[in-house]
Parts: sequence; C-alpha cells; structure tokens
Amino acid sequence: MGTAFRTHSCGALTTEDIGQQVTLAGWVNRRRDHGGLIFIDLRDGEGVIQVVFNPDICGEGHKVAAEMRHEYVATVAGKVARRPAGTENPKLATGEIEIIAEEVALLNRCKTPPFYINEEAEVEEMVRLKYRYLDLRRPRMRENILLRHRVIKFMRDFLDARGFIEIETPILIKSTPEGARDYLVPSRLHRGRFYALPQSPQQLKQLLMIAGFERYFQIARCFRDEDLRADRQPEFTQLDLEMSFVDEEEVLKLVEELFSSLVEAIKPEMGMVKPFPRLSYAQAMERYGTDKPDLRFGLELADISDIVAASDFSIFRSALASGGRVKGFCAPGCASYSRKQLGELADFVGARGARGLVTLALAGKQGQGLDDLTLDEVRSVAAKYLTLDQVKEMALRVKAEMGDLVLIIADKLKVVDTALSQLRVEMGCRLSLADPNLLAFAFIRDYPLLEWNEEQGRWEPMHHPFTAPRDEDLPFLDSAPEKVHAKHYDFVCNGCELSSGSMRIHTRELQERIFRLLGYTDDEIAARFGHLLEALEYGAPPHGGIAPGIDRLVMLLAGEDTIREVIAFPKTQSAVDVMTGAPDLVSREQLQELYLAPQEEEHNQEE
Ligand code: AMO
Repeated sequence: MGTAFRTHSCGALTTEDIGQQVTLAGWVNRRRDHGGLIFIDLRDGEGVIQVVFNPDICGEGHKVAAEMRHEYVATVAGKVARRPAGTENPKLATGEIEIIAEEVALLNRCKTPPFYINEEAEVEEMVRLKYRYLDLRRPRMRENILLRHRVIKFMRDFLDARGFIEIETPILIKSTPEGARDYLVPSRLHRGRFYALPQSPQQLKQLLMIAGFERYFQIARCFRDEDLRADRQPEFTQLDLEMSFVDEEEVLKLVEELFSSLVEAIKPEMGMVKPFPRLSYAQAMERYGTDKPDLRFGLELADISDIVAASDFSIFRSALASGGRVKGFCAPGCASYSRKQLGELADFVGARGARGLVTLALAGKQGQGLDDLTLDEVRSVAAKYLTLDQVKEMALRVKAEMGDLVLIIADKLKVVDTALSQLRVEMGCRLSLADPNLLAFAFIRDYPLLEWNEEQGRWEPMHHPFTAPRDEDLPFLDSAPEKVHAKHYDFVCNGCELSSGSMRIHTRELQERIFRLLGYTDDEIAARFGHLLEALEYGAPPHGGIAPGIDRLVMLLAGEDTIREVIAFPKTQSAVDVMTGAPDLVSREQLQELYLAPQEEEHNQEE
C-alpha cells in the first residue's frame, strides 16, 4: 500500500513480515514509558501495532516518542520483529510482532480528547455528537460505519447483477406526500415559491418507470420533518427500488433474496427464519396488536371478549358495551410477580393510553394441570366475577399454564392493541425471550387501502396515495372504501418496520378517483399532481416497488438501539447538529434575498 507516508498499514502486518523494513503512519493509541524503552501502540484504519523505541537504537526518535500523547499523529520507520517470548498480546491481531523503531516524525499533535478513544467507555451522547470525528475513531463506531459501507456495497452489487440501474433523482423537488411535514427551501429566483426536499423519491421513481427504466434503484436520501424517535431521523437513507411489469410476488421474492443473501454474506453468525413468514395485516393485528411484530418470540395476543362477555366484571362489561374488545396474553412463569411489579406493568400500559391492566395469576403449583385449578389459586381483582370455567377457557385461549400470569386490557380495540403490543415486547425483554442473534424478517400484506382519520373526518391512505387497490375490491371504492384492500406490503424485522412498498396505480382515471376519495379538490389535484397524472396518460407500464430503510437495517445488523449509532453525522432527538450548530441563524441579507421576513425577537444581528 506504499504512499508518501507509509509502506504498509499497521493492521496488515503479520509474522510473515518479520525482518522487513517498514514505514507506518497513524495515531498514538496508547503510550507506555518504561524508563528505558517507550512502547507506542500505533493505530491506523486497519488496526494497531506496537512500536518499541529503544534509546540505543534511535536516540532522537526516543526523545520524540517521549513527547507523544494520545492521538498524536506520526510516521515511524523500523523493522518488524517477533516479540520476545512471554510478551505477546493475544488480544491484538498483531500481538506476536512489534516494530523496532529507527526513525519517527511527528505529523501533528492532539489536544487531550474529551473522552477515551482507545477504550469503550460510556460517554454522554451530546459530547460524542459534538466531537463526532473523535467518536468515529472509536472501534465500535468505526465497525458500524464499515458495516454500513459493506451493506450498501452488497445492495449495489446484488441489484446491478440483476439488471437494476442506479439513477439519482433531485433533492430540490415539489412536495411529495409520505405522511410527514416537508422541509422547504425558499427560492431566490422565484419570489414566494419553495422547493420541498423529497420525503422519498416516490413520484420520481414512478416517472422513471414511465420513462422505460424497468428496474431502478437508488441509495436515496429522504427528508421528513416529523417527531423523532430512536429509529427516526430528519434525514435518512432508503434503498429505493422500483420495477415494471411485475406483480407483488416478484417484488417480495427479490427482497427475500436480497436480504437473506446479504445477511449470509455480511453477518453469517446471525440466524434467520426462512422462508420469511408472511402474515396478513389482519393476522398481525389480531395476534400481535401491531403490524410490525417482533417474531423472535411468542407471547401472542388472544381475543377473549366472547369468554368474558357473560362476566359481571364492570371493566370488561363497559368496554364491550361501548364496542371495545378484551384481549390478553400470557407471561410465562410470572404468577409470582409482586404487587410492585404488577404496578409497574400497569403504569407501563397507562403511559401508553390504556386505562388499566387486569392481571390474572394462576398461582397453583407449576407443572400441575389446569384441570386441578381452583378459584382460590386465581389471584386477580376480576376473580370473584369469573367462573372457574371462564378462567380455564381464558387460560386455554392465551396458552397459560399453572404458574403463569395473564395480562389483559379491555378498551377500544386500538387502545388495547397499542398498549398490549408494547407490553408484549416489554415482557419479551424482561423474560429475555428475544434472541439477539436472530433476525426475524417477515412480510405483512393485505393492508386496507385507507384509514379513517377521526380528527379530520376524512380518509387517509394507509401507505401513500399512489398505492393500487386490489382489483377485486374496486367495486367497493365508492360504496364501502373501508372494505378495499391494497396491493401494499410491509417488510419487518424484530419489531421494526424496515420497508413499505406497493404496486402502484398506473392509470390516470384510477389515480384521480383515489385523490378525490382522499378529499383533494380538482384544483388541488391539478396543482399538486398534474405532472404525474399527465405522465400516466403516456403509456405508463404496470409497476411497483419498495424502499427498505438502510439506517434501520444496519442498526439491527449492528445490534444497536438507535439509528444514530449507524449514521456518521446524525442529528439529536430535537433535530439539531450539535457539531456544526445547525439549524442556525442567517443574516438579514440572506433572508431578504429569499423574500423572507426576519423574526425580530429571535434574529440576532451577528452578520
Ligand atoms: P415509507 O414511508 O414507509 O415508504 O418509508 C420506507 C422506509 O424508510 C424508513 N424510514 C425512516 N428511517 C429513518 N428515519 C425516518 N424518519 C424514516 N421514515 C421512514 C423505514 C421505512 O420502512 N416511497 C415509499 C416506499 C415505496 O412505496 O416504495 C416510502 O417512502 O425503514
């Protein structure tokens, strides 16, 4: 790898190189001064190697080494030698060898870093983000960024080999709806007009299908101004892809091939369930209360409304009387939970919108059959309102046995599902049921096309307005829109939504009908989507695609809890870049050029 500064990289040297004269360049990872000898661990992009400065061999160099501190930058010339017996370091890939320094040149100094670079210590995230360039020097972050590179490279190669073409689409575009707020860019040349940053390249990729590029992909940056979470950033990256003349099955097959071969190549130590399970949206909601279930463990929800309908327990009765449902699941071995632990679970669901949690502990002896259960052994506020048969039936439905705890919520179905699905994940975590080395990919299909927005009193697309309805449901489009299912699929993994995709509408007539159903006026349709509608009239092929989120995928592969850990320069939860200080104030002149009025009280005049 000879360059002006080095002949080899530190991490690449092995015992085969013993006796070789080498020049290395890198950072001081660690320095130990043993009086006579000074040892420096020199680190570069590929690894670390020990360099020995012996004053008898290089007097000048020894003096320079004595001055060196953590993260100083240097080049060292010397000979590769076997370490003396007993001084090998098995923790280091190059631990059997060292460099006997002959010359050294200090290339740059380093202020004392705000945190250790050479060891994994907990460091406050704000400090890490402010000094991200130092944080990225740390091994874990470096690994994450390298992993991300390998993932993207794999995707590119995989798709290229299958005839996909990578095409860039513009960042300054017209607003395209994906359900979030737009980031807007004011135009200097066109007073009062704005570009929007793409929430996704959705319309552009459809236009590329109309343009005849039958297989498109792009590592696409998307921008959404929405509430941030561990798996949401204001700008993020999708593997955006689209195909013409395909059906849903062909897209899913491609995604399954891509993801299973990617994991096998890049994370072979991680397990997968193959073929990837497929669930309908209705099944996912019924069994897990969410359309992004963590399938690494069971704890499936069950509807017990019919069983408790006859009980006198007021919580069940009132929920059912107002059209709600009663659902529950079994937490194995948790019948002995203390009052405090049960209180924590009740608080947990309370914070997620449920009015309460009914718990039912089957407190008989573990291993004893349910047949022998007596009402005395059922610990629950609901016990005295239930018959033994009802309890047994319930236990059977949620697959509970003696020693288990049944967790139940009675409320509106949406509330029940939201709270129980999260409680299920919480229990999975408390009981260590989720194998961290398993990637439980799954497809969720048969989504409803539309969702009723109660607050605004109108239909909204479940996915986006370009998603095609199922052909057989078209007759209901006007009469009973709630019955219409979409050619829409999600791809999930370990409780995380990795992708959404769909077959698209490819005729103007149907696309216009959907826009009207969504409440757009003719003028709005023309202003916002005129370009797409017109394009659909010029021989648009049937087409569909998907857009897996790359940040979320890499987060799962890296075993990280937030996507910030796999993005080189992420923003904080409040969308701030603490390193550069964006968003920032701008000068009055800049605002005026853009025809924007300064906000007096906030705007400072440090032009
Ligand atoms: P969707 O809006 O579902 O679909 O987005 C696809 C995937 O992008 C990722 N994602 C995000 N990742 C990080 N931060 C965010 N704020 C964020 N928002 C979304 C998720 C998500 O599953 N155009 C359609 C796709 C299509 O129909 O082909 C779209 O963008 O992993």
